[in-house]
Amino acid sequence: MDAARVQALQADITRLAVDAIVNAANASLLGGGGVDGAIHRAAGPQLLEACRRLGGCAPGDAKLTAAFRLPAKYVIHTVGPVWQGGGAGEDGVLASCYRRCLELAAAHGVTSIAFPAISTGAYGFPLERAARIAVEAVSAALATRPAIRLVQFACFSPQALAVYRRALAQRAGD
Ligand code: APR
Repeated sequence: MDAARVQALQADITRLAVDAIVNAANASLLGGGGVDGAIHRAAGPQLLEACRRLGGCAPGDAKLTAAFRLPAKYVIHTVGPVWQGGGAGEDGVLASCYRRCLELAAAHGVTSIAFPAISTGAYGFPLERAARIAVEAVSAALATRPAIRLVQFACFSPQALAVYRRALAQRAGD
């Protein structure tokens, strides 16, 4: 996987001036805490108005809105799996979030996109496992989407950054 195309950095995703940032939302798409709360606060009230018109989102799926006051152009809202111990198909739903977000991104001419660590906060998904799934799903999707030139994993802590960097290094070493 081209290291220049996929990076991990420590950042507040609401400040990244990429074409699209991904929101780790819930099925209602009506806001919440964590990164969902941060994105809605930074985007302003029009984001919630836009989300109300989307009629929710299923786990593993994704929906796109404008980004309003954010530096990005779009917000791609996705709903990750709630961790239930690993035996309820959580891995597949998480991989689907990354795939669907990149599908939507490509369909809207997005060339740069930033992801938070989907499901690893309130939804309790183990961080190392989530990072491996994220790196694997993104690199597989990028193989058929040359127009997407930059994917950033926006890690909110030094610990998360170290985990994502290890997952990227392991993938590169494969
Ligand atoms: N920028 C980047 N990452 C962030 C930010 C931010 N501003 N704020 C939080 N994060 C990180 C968290 O540290 C975590 O690693 O995003 C990751 C995802 O955590 P959550 O935001 O809790 O999302 P998730 O685990 O997917 O749970 C989703 O929480 O906020 C509610 O409405 C949301 O019900 C949904 C649930």
